[in-house]
Amino acid sequence: MILAANFKMNHTRSSTKEYIDSLCRFLKNGNFDQDIEIYLFPPATALDSYECESVRIGAQNAYCAEEGSFTGEIGPVQLGEFGIETVLIGHSERRELFGESQELIDKKFAFYKERGYEIFYCIGERLDIRERGIEEVKSFLRRQLLNIDTDYENLIIAYEPVWAIGTGKSAHTEDIAEVMEFLGSITDAPLLYGGSVKAGNIESIISVEGCEGALIGTASWKVDSFCEIIERAQMRKRS
Ligand code: PGA
Repeated sequence: MILAANFKMNHTRSSTKEYIDSLCRFLKNGNFDQDIEIYLFPPATALDSYECESVRIGAQNAYCAEEGSFTGEIGPVQLGEFGIETVLIGHSERRELFGESQELIDKKFAFYKERGYEIFYCIGERLDIRERGIEEVKSFLRRQLLNIDTDYENLIIAYEPVWAIGTGKSAHTEDIAEVMEFLGSITDAPLLYGGSVKAGNIESIISVEGCEGALIGTASWKVDSFCEIIERAQMRKRS
């Protein structure tokens, strides 16, 4: 099971360090199963090689060039300084707020795949598509996967319906199940759900057939809240 915290544009370098220290203490004392994998995506200014073996650090965004004149971007050279080998690609906020086209996303995917990075690839439909029914959702998601190598061994797919992100309104488990089944027919990559995941719904979400974890925004920003999510997910797994 994978539980990943996406800080988005929250936390500083020093608060990220405090967060990781607390999280690490919690994981050490909690007797957690080895097969729960914890990831943290801090903002770019807080990327570092933290001394916490049980938490893997990833970048929320990275550009598809080795280095060069790309103002405001970071790439493999900057990530390499901290030994970071995990990137998030295609998050809906990058797509919707920053105008990242599918073409650019495909390029980023190919670039980081070629270098063997672990890629969390995000897909998800807007509300207007969801309202047109599941077949429309499937064909939309299929388009977001069209140029993505779904057999890539270091791929993790996060299904995050745009209308469920940061709204406090998670998708219904039946809807998640339907999408997981569809994605499972396309790929063997681990499938995550994201969109208003919190301590109160993590157990039902990870109980969905085919769902192997969650990508968590808002409810991960406070370390106690993320720890509670981990604890509940572990309890559910053991029951
Ligand atoms: P949320 O964000 O948990 O705040 O809905 C999830 C995400 O954007 O990854």
